[in-house]
Amino acid sequence: MNKKEIHPRTASKSESLDQRSEALLAKMTLAEKIGQMSQIAGTGGITAGLRKAVQQGKVGSILNEIDTDTLNELQRIAIEESRLGIPIIIGRDVIHGFQTVMPIPLGQAASWNPGLIEKSARVAAIEGASVGIHWTFAPMIDITRDPRWGRIAESLGEDPHLTSVLGAAMVKGFQGEDLANHDSLAACAKHFAGYGYSEAGKDYAYVNIAENELRNVVLPPFKAAADAGVATFMTAFSDVNGIPATGNEFLTRKVLREEWKYKGFVVSDWDSVIQLTTHGFAESEKEAAFEAVAAGVDMEMASQTYLYNIEALVREGRIDESLIDECVGNILRVKYALGLFEQPYTDESQFPEKGNDDHLAVARLAALESIVLLKNDYNVLPLNADHQHNIAIIGPLADDGHEQMGTWTFDGVEAWCQTPLKAIRDMLPGHVNIHVARGLDTTRSKHRKGFAEALEAAAKSETVILFMGEEAILSGEAHCRADIDLPGVQNELLAEIAKLGKTTILVVMAGRPLTLDLTRQHVNAILYAWHPGTMGGPAIADVLFGKSNPSGKLPVTFPKHVGQIPIYYNQRMSGKPATAQSFTYIDDIPKRAPQTSTGNTSFHMDAGYEPLYPFGFGLSYTRFYYGEVRLSDHEFRVGEGIEVYIDLTNIGEVHGAEVAQLYIRDRFGSITRPVRELKGFQKVWLHPGETRTLTFQLHSDDLAFYNRQMNLVTEPGGFDLWVGGDSNASKHAHFKINQ
Ligand code: NOJ
Repeated sequence: MNKKEIHPRTASKSESLDQRSEALLAKMTLAEKIGQMSQIAGTGGITAGLRKAVQQGKVGSILNEIDTDTLNELQRIAIEESRLGIPIIIGRDVIHGFQTVMPIPLGQAASWNPGLIEKSARVAAIEGASVGIHWTFAPMIDITRDPRWGRIAESLGEDPHLTSVLGAAMVKGFQGEDLANHDSLAACAKHFAGYGYSEAGKDYAYVNIAENELRNVVLPPFKAAADAGVATFMTAFSDVNGIPATGNEFLTRKVLREEWKYKGFVVSDWDSVIQLTTHGFAESEKEAAFEAVAAGVDMEMASQTYLYNIEALVREGRIDESLIDECVGNILRVKYALGLFEQPYTDESQFPEKGNDDHLAVARLAALESIVLLKNDYNVLPLNADHQHNIAIIGPLADDGHEQMGTWTFDGVEAWCQTPLKAIRDMLPGHVNIHVARGLDTTRSKHRKGFAEALEAAAKSETVILFMGEEAILSGEAHCRADIDLPGVQNELLAEIAKLGKTTILVVMAGRPLTLDLTRQHVNAILYAWHPGTMGGPAIADVLFGKSNPSGKLPVTFPKHVGQIPIYYNQRMSGKPATAQSFTYIDDIPKRAPQTSTGNTSFHMDAGYEPLYPFGFGLSYTRFYYGEVRLSDHEFRVGEGIEVYIDLTNIGEVHGAEVAQLYIRDRFGSITRPVRELKGFQKVWLHPGETRTLTFQLHSDDLAFYNRQMNLVTEPGGFDLWVGGDSNASKHAHFKINQ
């Protein structure tokens, strides 16, 4: 193919997407339509079978082929050798970066910075598009309240509002200004819906979720993604209330198409159509294809039940061809919007180099803003490099580029990763001795053979920095854990080091919240860095040594104990809520006490009722003071809104960022309401002594919820409102909404 013919993709805007796809549909045979509905996995080259399938118009999409020459040749076959010349849409999981890796999505969410998240997705899109990818299977916007679930790493946390805002930012970043731009990727809102509610945090397990919970908690981020123009949706693997999501008409037809009027296309998850038989929901592959099409799943990923069965189903009159036309129309519109008909080929030389300085700078900032300072006794952090003489760097994650990239990094370049050890070496002045000891082979090691070396390094030093947590492989799809403490003998090593009485700082890299109740007793400070990606090292070093001030806030509640799960801030009120006065620890209960001795409220006798760290929590090297909350009005009507004002002052010594969070409580409703719900947040940078008046807009629509009749309504009545630095925010006001 002649590269000179390659230009950036640009779609002709003269005809509407509808007109163009309808005109093409009118020319297509049923077999060609079914071909568009089939996505096959790349085979790492072009086999004779693949060539033939493309020539016959049986391949609408390919995933997981990333060799540009192969992709261009496959496109050429589709364009020049298939009857109608329809381009193939190429998909890939570009989840948190392509070759430049950003922090895992859960880490990005800890930045509470939609602008930065949009930029991170933009970088990922530019790099992914440069090899010929058109479509990423991201963002994952599944709400989850279960850190045992391995895919919490890929989520944006537990909160519908935060996930909605950040998920929409990712969509914008991936899709760019215009889908037709050569460096845009179509995004995919996944997994529709309920996947994050898998029982016991076990991947692919049953999801039992009441419709009001589904509508009020799980679906809002998907609606926000649809409103942000996300080009595609992916169904979930899950069995949702007895109907697997890939055959669930309620989700994909009623909610997505009828209620939300969604115009993009829906792809199944990998093999999730054929899995309708494994679920025991469809008797045969043919029935599986029937159920998925009936539910409105436009494209089948990986399995080929559509390819082999739809024709018969149409011939037998079980599926009306108009349903197939709808599916194909949905797919073609996205192909036209991407400009693939105008420019199906990719010329890598028209893109900036991958991993360039700008991309690394975004990755560094994203890593920096994702870091959450959880503990900082006596302000041991930041460390003053000039005052150090001997520092011990200990732990299996101090110098391992692969592990810091985290889950879903098929394409991440390990050689580009800057580890904390490297960054600390680069940063510290020559007079500081760095004593390095791995301590443990991996975070899972159960033997103590490295302890002696680690203790020796610690003994020689005045400051000990430990890099512990979980390897990348311990989170992600199908990588769930029942015990979410630090794995292996990490706590034992920490306990031994603690006995030396040094200044001990723990940097945790992990794909999920860990139960750090025991761990935190052994250390003076904890930085939670998640899996921070390519530039994790410099970002962590900057925070440790005070070049930057940590600003991350938890996008998910940290439990003390795995038995508290699910634990989340926006729980329902309960008829017997626990309070600080109303619970008794197991050790304090007399042997023959009356049944009521625990106060009969909602808590665990061995863990209390509070989490280890609440949603929204994160410390800073400075301190912020919140003034009193002021409202523009204390009463307003449905359809109206108010403004909420608060003065925020940096009362510490250094420049820093605070995420001011606005929560409300609907005092009572026709269904019970959460104790608090996040309704707004602002991340602001303030110099020492600086005060800023923050203004939040609050409209009655923001307070709407799906009621008993499953109607979205704002119910008049009294509301509480708090603003502050985490979900325990204490600056309070109240207001009333009138009919
Ligand atoms: C299965 C995962 O559930 C989904 O999120 C991913 O996009 C597909 N595999 C494709 O790799």
